[in-house]
Amino acid sequence: MAFPNRSSATLLSVLVFSLIFGAPIFTAVADDPLFSVFEKWMKDNGRTYGSITEKLQRFQVFKDNFQFIESMKNRTLTYTLGLNKFADLTNKEFLQKYATFKPRNSSNISTPFRYANVTSIPSSIDWRTLGAVTSIKDQGNCGSCWAFSAVASIEGINKIKTGNLISLSEQELVDCVSNCYGCNGGYEDYAFEWVVQNGGITTEDDYPYTSGITQTEGTCSNTGNYAATISGYEYVTAYSESDLAKAVANQPVSIGIDASGYAFQFYSGGIFTGPCGTSIDHAVTVVGYGSSDGTNYWIVKNSWGTSWGESGYVRMQKDIYCIAGLCGLAMEPSYPTK
Ligand SMILES: *[C@@H]1O[C@H](CO)[C@@H](O)[C@H](O)[C@H]1NC(C)=O
Ligand SMILES: *[C@@H]1O[C@H](CO)[C@@H](O)[C@H](O)[C@H]1NC(C)=O
Ligand SMILES: *[C@@H]1O[C@H](CO)[C@@H](O)[C@H](O)[C@H]1NC(C)=O
Ligand SMILES: *[C@@H]1O[C@H](CO)[C@@H](O)[C@H](O)[C@H]1NC(C)=O
Repeated sequence: MAFPNRSSATLLSVLVFSLIFGAPIFTAVADDPLFSVFEKWMKDNGRTYGSITEKLQRFQVFKDNFQFIESMKNRTLTYTLGLNKFADLTNKEFLQKYATFKPRNSSNISTPFRYANVTSIPSSIDWRTLGAVTSIKDQGNCGSCWAFSAVASIEGINKIKTGNLISLSEQELVDCVSNCYGCNGGYEDYAFEWVVQNGGITTEDDYPYTSGITQTEGTCSNTGNYAATISGYEYVTAYSESDLAKAVANQPVSIGIDASGYAFQFYSGGIFTGPCGTSIDHAVTVVGYGSSDGTNYWIVKNSWGTSWGESGYVRMQKDIYCIAGLCGLAMEPSYPTK
C-alpha cells in the first residue's frame, strides 16, 4: 500500500481525494516507480505533509525536479546536480524562501578600496585551511542570508586580525538591524554598519540562531557581551573580478549573487558554470579561489546546511567573459575592516 502509517485524517483525505478525482489517479500515482523514490527521499529528509492531496502535489514537483536533473545528465557539465532537501520545491517557491537578499543600488555608493594597489596575490587561497572560516551554518526557513554572509566575513577578518576564530551571532543581526527586514531579507553592508555603531557583535553561543525554525525575527536582546568588533566596511570595485581577487587574497568577502534557476537549487558538486542571470537575490561569502583543470573558481560559503553543494560550499567559475562575474558575483562585493 502506498500510504503506510496513515491516520484516520489522512484516510479521510484518501476517501475525499478518491471521490473528487476518482480512484484511477490515485492508483496511477501509487504505481509510479518514482513514488517509492519520493517516499524514501521524504524519509531521508524528515519531510511530512498535512494531507494526501499535498503529498501528491509535492510528488508532482519532485517528479519535475527529478526529470530536470536527469535531463542535465546528458550535458557536458563541470558540476553535478542532486535531489537535495529542496527537491519538493518549485524554483519559484525556492526563490521566495531562500533568495531574499536585497541588492543595493551601488551606482552612487563608493568607499575607499584598501586593496586597490595590491600587486602580488597567490595563485590560490583557501581561508578554510587557514583557519578563518567557521563550519557551515543553516539559515533554515528564514530569508536571513544577508546576516550569514555578513557574519562569515566578520568571523574571517576577526580571525585574521586577532588570531581567534569565533563563531558569531546571525540572530543578533536578524533581530537588531532595524533597517533590514529580518527573515524577509536585508543588506550585508547595513549589517556591517550596525556592528560598527553597536560597538561589536556577540557569539553564536550567547545569541543562538532560532529564526530557521520560528521563520520570523525575534526581539532584539542586545547582550552587550561583544566577542568581535569591526571598524567599518568597504566595497570592492564593482564589475572587477581582478579587484575581488585582491580583496579575497586578504580576507573573506561578502557578495551578492543570482541564485535563481534550477541548476543552482540542485547543485551538488564541481565547478558551477550556470546558467544563471545577474539579478542579485542571495548573499554568500567568498572564502578563497583556485583552479582545477584550467578552470578558475571562487570558493563560496553558503548558508543552506552541509547537505547542499560540496558540504555546504559551491565552487563558482572565476574570470568569465562577463564583467558582472558568474551570477553577478562581482557586482556588489563588500568586506568589513578592522
Ligand atoms: C539522454 O541521452 C540518451 C542517449 O543519447 C537518450 O536516450 C535519452 O533520451 C536522453 N535523456 C534525456 C532526459 O534527454
Ligand atoms: C541607481 O542610482 C543612480 C544614481 O542615483 C540612478 O541614476 C539610477 O537610476 C538608479 N538605478 C536604479 C535601478 O534604481
Ligand atoms: C543612492 O541614491 C538613491 C536614489 O537617489 C538614494 O535613495 C540612496 O539613499 C542613495 N544611497 C546612498 C548610499 O547615498
Ligand atoms: C594607490 O596608489 C595611488 C598612487 O600612488 C595612491 O594615490 C592611492 O592612494 C593608493 N591607494 C590606496 C588604497 O592605497
